[in-house]
Amino acid sequence: MTKTLPDNLTVRPATAAEIEGIVALNTTVHDATVGELARQLMTVHPHMSPSDFWVGVTPAGQVVSSQCLIPGHLRLGQTIVPYCEVGLVGTLEPWRGKGLASAMMAACHADLARRGALLTLIAGIPYFYRRYGYEYSVPLDAHHLLDLDQAPADSDGFTFRLAEPRDAERLNCWRNEVSAELDLASTRDEAIWRYQLADSQGSGYEAETWLVDRGDETLGYARVFFHGFGQGLILGQASHLPEGADLAVLAHARRLAIARGKPHLRLDLPASHPLVLTANALGARCESCYAWQVRVADPVALLSALAPELERRAAGLTAVVHLGLYGPTVAIELVDGRVTRVGPPVGEPDHHLHLPPPLLAPLALGYRTLPKIREFYLDAYVARGEAAVFEQLFPALTAWVEPVY
Ligand SMILES: CC(C)(COP(=O)(O)OP(=O)(O)OC[C@H]1O[C@@H](n2cnc3c(N)ncnc32)[C@H](O)[C@@H]1OP(=O)(O)O)[C@@H](O)C(=O)NCCC(=O)NCCS
Repeated sequence: MTKTLPDNLTVRPATAAEIEGIVALNTTVHDATVGELARQLMTVHPHMSPSDFWVGVTPAGQVVSSQCLIPGHLRLGQTIVPYCEVGLVGTLEPWRGKGLASAMMAACHADLARRGALLTLIAGIPYFYRRYGYEYSVPLDAHHLLDLDQAPADSDGFTFRLAEPRDAERLNCWRNEVSAELDLASTRDEAIWRYQLADSQGSGYEAETWLVDRGDETLGYARVFFHGFGQGLILGQASHLPEGADLAVLAHARRLAIARGKPHLRLDLPASHPLVLTANALGARCESCYAWQVRVADPVALLSALAPELERRAAGLTAVVHLGLYGPTVAIELVDGRVTRVGPPVGEPDHHLHLPPPLLAPLALGYRTLPKIREFYLDAYVARGEAAVFEQLFPALTAWVEPVY
């Protein structure tokens, strides 16, 4: 598990003794909120420990580079897909360009099978991760902007209070209700809610979780984040709210924005979220939406896991389809709508798609359909008349994935 690089730099899993070194590194390379997040992931996050970090160290033992794997689960249709987010990627300036980040990425990728993870996600800087096989594949970081004079001023009849760790169970129920409406969503358990409510102070993902009350009844929640892109007050993660309560939340956010000197509200939510639809009716505009960069760890393992979803879409289809990934080819064999085999090809296919390997993630996760991909990538090639089956098996999906910290 240890790799030696030029200058006798080594890359290996971190130990508990290196917590402070990793915090200091992330504070220097990024900022104090990322340093604090690193500390929390290693010490109080319910599903992580220092051994989820990799470090690059000098012969004297100084930590000069680090990154980590943050485990989570996606729900795609009715299928649970284990994944890891590659996070907190950074190398101290004097040690950059010596292969440390690349060696750690290789180490992370090599560890995925042991962890049972089928995908890695990165919410990272543009372009860099293409060199490691990543492609934009799941919406992230939406900028639905609502000016303060477009937001309601009045929330009469509703009151707001901050959630506490004991609210974790119902927050999770409300959140599950929202994510059930998406084809692809991240899952979250109550332990993560408790971490977020009790132990995430000072991290870059710290948020206030506001509960909405009407009389004795608590109707739902919305979260306001302290850090993030843009100048606006960031409203991310909100439950379904009955009519009137949605406007009251926007009015409450408007009051917070005025008090905090924020020029507008930014809804960091999926385009289909009811609160975004309410904001749109008030004149909100979508300025941009970024995306998670995703890499498929093992195409056969992912497509095997997705067999129940492929069967739901197959509608009785009998066919042998090949996904040629300019290297390995994955065969999917269907008989009367049942997936009978996913694996290396045996014999000739009925339908053959040639696909650059990084594009398997956006196709399989429904971020881009085959026609969209083919508009831009001429090496995503399929013989005349054979595209329809790939469009049937890999449709566009509604998706939103929230970090689990
Ligand atoms: C990006 C970073 C982690 C790379 O670390 P590193 O240890 O120097 O990486 P490596 O030595 O393995 O090599 C990275 C390669 O990517 C290139 N690279 C570095 N930053 C890049 C960027 N933003 N976009 C494209 N390529 C980049 C390097 O030039 C190098 O290319 P080479 O192999 O052809 O010489 C480091 O520059 C860093 O910490 N940057 C600031 C923090 C940051 O942006 N982190 C990522 C946040 S998501």
